[in-house]
Amino acid sequence: MFTFCLLVFLQLSTLTTAHPGSHDESAYFRSLISSSLVQEARQKLARCSDHIKRSGIDTRAAARRRAIVNSYRGISDAGGLFKSIRSSVFQEVLSSSESPPCLLTPEATIGPFWVDGELIRSNVTDGEPGIPLVLDGEFIDIHTCEPVEDVYWEIWNCNATGSYSGVEDFGHHHDGHDSNLDKTYLRGIQRTDKDGAAQFITVFPGHYPGRATHIHVLAHVGATVLPNKTVTGGQVAHIGQLFFDQNLIAAVESTAHYKTNNVRITPNIKDGIFNDVNSASGYDPILSYTRLGHSLEDGILAWTTMGIDLSASYKAESAATLTDHGGVAHFHGWLPHQPGTREILVGVLGLGLVFWLARSFRQFCVRSA
Ligand SMILES: *[C@@H]1O[C@H](CO)[C@@H](O)[C@H](O)[C@H]1NC(C)=O
Ligand SMILES: *[C@@H]1O[C@H](CO)[C@@H](O)[C@H](O)[C@H]1NC(C)=O
Ligand SMILES: *[C@@H]1O[C@H](CO)[C@@H](O)[C@H](O)[C@H]1NC(C)=O
Repeated sequence: MFTFCLLVFLQLSTLTTAHPGSHDESAYFRSLISSSLVQEARQKLARCSDHIKRSGIDTRAAARRRAIVNSYRGISDAGGLFKSIRSSVFQEVLSSSESPPCLLTPEATIGPFWVDGELIRSNVTDGEPGIPLVLDGEFIDIHTCEPVEDVYWEIWNCNATGSYSGVEDFGHHHDGHDSNLDKTYLRGIQRTDKDGAAQFITVFPGHYPGRATHIHVLAHVGATVLPNKTVTGGQVAHIGQLFFDQNLIAAVESTAHYKTNNVRITPNIKDGIFNDVNSASGYDPILSYTRLGHSLEDGILAWTTMGIDLSASYKAESAATLTDHGGVAHFHGWLPHQPGTREILVGVLGLGLVFWLARSFRQFCVRSA
C-alpha cells in the first residue's frame, strides 16, 4: 500500500513541477547561436563589411535611403534643393561616408508571435495609430557578400500599446472573443529587389512586459507566390530581431498612444535576447535611423543590412496561421502560445488543486502505512 502511494505521489509531483508550455526564448537562442552553422556565418559576415564598401553596395543603399527621405518630404532628388534641408537629422543619409558603419544583423529567436500565411504588402499599418516607421532592409549573402534578390522578407511588430495582431491577445486587451486573431496589422511580406532591398511602412513598435522594443524579421528563400498574395514553400533562411536606440524609444514613448501604456519599459540592456544577440555576434543589432520630417510625428526611416546564409533552414513554429477564413491559432503542448487571463487563472487553480490532492493523498498514505 505504501509503495503504491509513494509511486502515485511521485507521479503527481513530477507532473506539477515539469509542466510544459513555458517558452524559453533565451535558451533556444543560446542553443542556436552556439551551433557551428551560426558561428561560421558570423565569421563570414565579418569579412563582408569591406566588400560592401568597395563594391559600392553601401553607396547605392545610401542613395536609396536619401530618395525615400526626399519622397516623404515631397522633394525631388535635385542636388541644390537637398542642400537647403541639410539639418543634422538628415546628415546620416546624405552620403555613405557619413553613414554609420554597415550593420549586419545576426540570427535571433522567432518568439511566440509569428503568424504564417501573411500577405505580401508594403504598407502594413492597417490604420493603427502611432509614429510612422519606414523600414528599409537589405539582404547580403554571407558567402558571396552580394545582395540577394527574391527573398520574401517578413516582419511583425506589436502596436503602439504592445499588442500583436493575429494571435490570441494578452490579458491586458482581451475583449472576450478572439477578434484579434483575424487582424493583420503590422505584419507583412515584401520581395527584395536586385539590391537585395525592400521597404515596409509600419508604426514604431510599443512595448510589452519583459521585452525591449523590437521588430521580428524572417526571410523566406525559394518560396512560391500564390494568387492571393501569400507565399508558400521554400525554406526559412534567416530569423532575426531588430532593436532601436534607447533615446529614440524614450522620445517615441512620450508621444500620444504610446504613453497610455502603463507597462514598465524594458531597456535594451535588460533584454535577454538583445544581450545574447549582442554578445554572441559582436554586432550591434540596433537599427540606424533618421527622421522623415521636422517633428517625430512625421515619421522615422530606419534601416539595416542582414546577412543571410541561403543554405540555412531554420525551424519556425507559428502561433497561428492566416487563412482565407481568418486566423487559426495553433496549440503547442498544454497551453496556447499566448495564454489569456482565463487560461492563466484555470492553470493556477488546476495546479493548486493538484497540489492539494497530492498533499491529502500523502497524508492519507502516511496515516495508513
Ligand atoms: C498606409 O495604409 C493606411 C491604411 O491602412 C493609410 O491610412 C496610410 O495613409 C498608408 N500610408 C502610406 C504612407 O501610404
Ligand atoms: C493595439 O491593439 C489592441 C488589440 O488589438 C487594441 O485594443 C489597442 O487599442 C491597440 N492600440 C492602439 C494604440 O490603438
Ligand atoms: C491563400 O491561398 C491558399 C491556397 O489556396 C490558402 O490556403 C490560404 O488560406 C489563402 N490565404 C488567405 C489569407 O486568403
